[in-house]
Amino acid sequence: MGCYLKAKTIQGPERTIAAYILRSTGMKMLFRVEFGLCACILFTVTSSVSGRQDPVSEWKSASSRPNVLFLVVDDLRPKLGCYGETNMVTPNIDQLAASSVRFDRAYVQFALCGPSRTSFLTSRRPESTRVFNLYTYWRDVAGNYTTLPQHFKQSGYITQSVGKVFHPGKSSGGDDDYPLSWTNKPYHGDKGGNSGYKNNSEQCPGPDGKLHDYAVCPVNVSQTPHKILEDIDLADFSVDFLKNYRHKYQDQPFFFAVGFHKPHLIWKYPVEYEALYPLTHITLPKDKTKPEGMPPVAWYTCTGLREHQDIMDVNFPFPYGPLPDDMILKIRQAYSASTSYVDAQIGRVLSALDQYGYANNTIITFIGDHGWNLGEHGEWCKQTNFELAVRIPYLVHVPNVTSRFRQRGHNFPFIDALHPKQVQKVSDAGLHLSTDVIVEAVDLYPTISELAGVDVPSRCPLNGYNTAFCTEGSSLVSILKNLTTAAPVQWENIAYSQYPRWSPDPHKGSPSVTIMGYTLRNPEYRYTEWVYYNHTAYTMDWTQLYGRELYVHTTDPAEDNNVAAQSAYQAVVEQLSKQLHQGIENRE
Ligand SMILES: *[C@@H]1O[C@H](CO)[C@@H](O)[C@H](O)[C@H]1NC(C)=O
Ligand SMILES: *[C@@H]1O[C@H](CO)[C@@H](O)[C@H](O)[C@H]1NC(C)=O
Ligand SMILES: *[C@@H]1O[C@H](CO)[C@@H](O)[C@H](O)[C@H]1NC(C)=O
Ligand SMILES: *[C@@H]1O[C@H](CO)[C@@H](O)[C@H](O)[C@H]1NC(C)=O
Ligand SMILES: *[C@@H]1O[C@H](CO)[C@@H](O)[C@H](O)[C@H]1NC(C)=O
Ligand SMILES: *[C@@H]1O[C@H](CO)[C@@H](O)[C@H](O)[C@H]1NC(C)=O
Ligand SMILES: *[C@@H]1O[C@H](CO)[C@@H](O)[C@H](O)[C@H]1NC(C)=O
Repeated sequence: MGCYLKAKTIQGPERTIAAYILRSTGMKMLFRVEFGLCACILFTVTSSVSGRQDPVSEWKSASSRPNVLFLVVDDLRPKLGCYGETNMVTPNIDQLAASSVRFDRAYVQFALCGPSRTSFLTSRRPESTRVFNLYTYWRDVAGNYTTLPQHFKQSGYITQSVGKVFHPGKSSGGDDDYPLSWTNKPYHGDKGGNSGYKNNSEQCPGPDGKLHDYAVCPVNVSQTPHKILEDIDLADFSVDFLKNYRHKYQDQPFFFAVGFHKPHLIWKYPVEYEALYPLTHITLPKDKTKPEGMPPVAWYTCTGLREHQDIMDVNFPFPYGPLPDDMILKIRQAYSASTSYVDAQIGRVLSALDQYGYANNTIITFIGDHGWNLGEHGEWCKQTNFELAVRIPYLVHVPNVTSRFRQRGHNFPFIDALHPKQVQKVSDAGLHLSTDVIVEAVDLYPTISELAGVDVPSRCPLNGYNTAFCTEGSSLVSILKNLTTAAPVQWENIAYSQYPRWSPDPHKGSPSVTIMGYTLRNPEYRYTEWVYYNHTAYTMDWTQLYGRELYVHTTDPAEDNNVAAQSAYQAVVEQLSKQLHQGIENRE
């Protein structure tokens, strides 16, 4: 139930949202359509608020050339207060969520930084970017695609990247796709280089008083060599950028992208955030072992965690674990503390947006680049197709539409989690909008374009390698309007992701994809097939199957029980298999 047909084409030349609005007829029609397994409901609802334009259109006509603040956090799953995790202390992100639309079922297309970022920044699915690792640049192997920041740059915006937005290095052409995507050189922190805070080796004080290469690495910032950590540096730069912006660029609008590094490992964070998460309050994952009936190919051995000394020092059986309980608690504490530390940096950027007078005219999006398995299924990494690896936090804020209007200075007051007694009055601008429609990271590009009033990319042709400007996602504006005025929406409630297996392991030697795991998520199921992949031809062979997974989310949200082989589910498997092949091949 509750499956919507996703708009397959974005109404092309329409640049203003106002053009989409159906006003004040007060009529409501419902159609029921059978679509695969889900009974789909096609809503055609018109606003019953007589004589009033919808808030999105009103905002569009009131604000010309709005700015964009694009926030992305590395390895952040929706382990946040605003996503119902009541033990998490993330007041600044929660405050943003309260005045945004919170998407509760949002998915990336690939659970690895480089391929995921390439996908959402080009709005193409991995099969179209041909980027499956951290060393491949889409302009070399797929097509000369116009990126989201490049599109804004070409539309007259100042575009600036701070921190990890593109995956740096080879996968973004060596310089974060500068100058094609960015007006200025991307900023990656300038305090210390590899010998400073970016040097993750042997930097963590151990019980012996010496420095070690640890995964869990709380530090006293004032005692680190440069008395600063990377994400603090990025927030410092961002605050200065906003402070000096008007002086430098007058009224030119900006597309400002800020990518924070934590809670990616290693978990190097200011030690004081640990106090927010006493070990006695940390819980073990409910499912510490691999799912029943899981095919081995679905598993990843989490090489990245295993190479640190504190992990090598404990008993972590290869390949399935589990880690000892006390180490599990320490890691979960470190991930949470790192998240609160990043929340504070995000709070600093948002309050600067307020302070320098931009909050009332800036669209804000907030996402993680993929999720992370925190010991669930015994996994300690992302490189899988599990729900926890592909599901992300996903917020879209449009001033005065997803929030009540506030004059400058009162939208995002900084909230200091470490000094709760000093907490400023929290903004009451929030409308707390949320939805459980299934959305994807590739949808961001057309969404932000439509909201900002720049050209909206139309649907890519199949094999559109020579089409520079197009999308394989769908604008979410119709959903925003549905939430604010019950405007009509057609939405296909389905997300596709994929994850490869390489030979040899990418951590050793030059890897080639030999198996690709394709997965789809609809409101009821996650269904996955692992099949042979020819990395030379970029083709999959659905008939060479290495494993199949079906998790029934309505009864097994943790994906603990693979029922793909059970006879009761054969009809479901057959149907979803067809849909998966079609969806992946057609880049739906
Ligand atoms: C935002 O606030 C500033 C300062 O109060 C004001 O000049 C400007 O018109 C506002 N912009 C919008 C889109 O409301
Ligand atoms: C790719 O597109 C950019 C921007 O339009 C252009 O400057 C560049 O020459 C193109 N590169 C190739 C190899 O076609
Ligand atoms: C990183 O720090 C360690 C120990 O503090 C030091 O031995 C090493 O040379 C540093 N690496 C770089 C690239 O400076
Ligand atoms: C960090 O070190 C400084 C200087 O030694 C000390 O005064 C401070 O209390 C320490 N902070 C924490 C949180 O341990
Ligand atoms: C904010 O929205 C309200 C109600 O939709 C509208 O009356 C007002 O003009 C809007 N303010 C701005 C600055 O867009
Ligand atoms: C659209 O709005 C209607 C009325 O509020 C609601 O019943 C429906 O679920 C919404 N559709 C979506 C896809 O959010
Ligand atoms: C993979 O594709 C290439 C190019 O089409 C082809 O030459 C090669 O034989 C294929 N490899 C396998 C193992 O099928």
